[in-house]
Amino acid sequence: MKTVQIAIDGPAGAGKSTIARLVAQRFNYTYIDTGAMYRAITLKAMQSKIDLHDENAFDFIDQTRFDFNNGILYMDDNDVSDLIRTRAVSNHVSLVSSYFTVRHKLVERQRQMADQQNVVMDGRDIGYHVLPHAAYKFYLTADVLTRAKRRFSENQLRGIHSSLEELVEEIKSRDAFDSTREHSPLRPANDAIIIDTSAMTIETVVLTIETKVREGEYYGV
Ligand code: CDP
Repeated sequence: MKTVQIAIDGPAGAGKSTIARLVAQRFNYTYIDTGAMYRAITLKAMQSKIDLHDENAFDFIDQTRFDFNNGILYMDDNDVSDLIRTRAVSNHVSLVSSYFTVRHKLVERQRQMADQQNVVMDGRDIGYHVLPHAAYKFYLTADVLTRAKRRFSENQLRGIHSSLEELVEEIKSRDAFDSTREHSPLRPANDAIIIDTSAMTIETVVLTIETKVREGEYYGV
């Protein structure tokens, strides 16, 4: 079966997950949050007390189950939504996701999911690496302060304490690390539509993406 794939990439806090979730609802597609998968693996590694600096210690991924239901990631049948958003996980996820073996294993799972159903998939490398043939590719960005403020409000809702200054620093350092790493660094695909969301509401961004996809459907993309 040929599935429809909508790829959404961008840096931390650009609004990817909120937007991707809403776009998925509009089209009744499955939302796959690949960042949540990297976070979940980081969480599992920390809980198992494995050495995060040992790239060869991640074979446990092969025995790990991932399911997305209504945009929520279940790892080994457990809802890990809250546990994967803690500062400890945020501070280590870039390291873990820089490993080739980790990426290779997770990208394989992501491609399998996108082969089986229509998806909206968000991440850092979806448009140019995970799903290079996706019919629709978007790259969301926004200035650092806007992104930190959004993350601040999100964290407040989740009951996670963090100051705006800390979030600016976290976002800057994750951006720098993610963009300069050797394997699949953060970057837009050559054929992605770039959207600067700094001065846009969520609804306007969703509508921009929805309109492009409906145009594509109309012209038989
Ligand atoms: O939500 P936020 O923008 O904070 O990040 P995320 O999407 O949850 O991703 C967390 C981290 O996972 C990123 O900073 C990247 O280091 C890594 N990641 C990645 O390497 N490749 C992806 N496709 C998705 C996330």
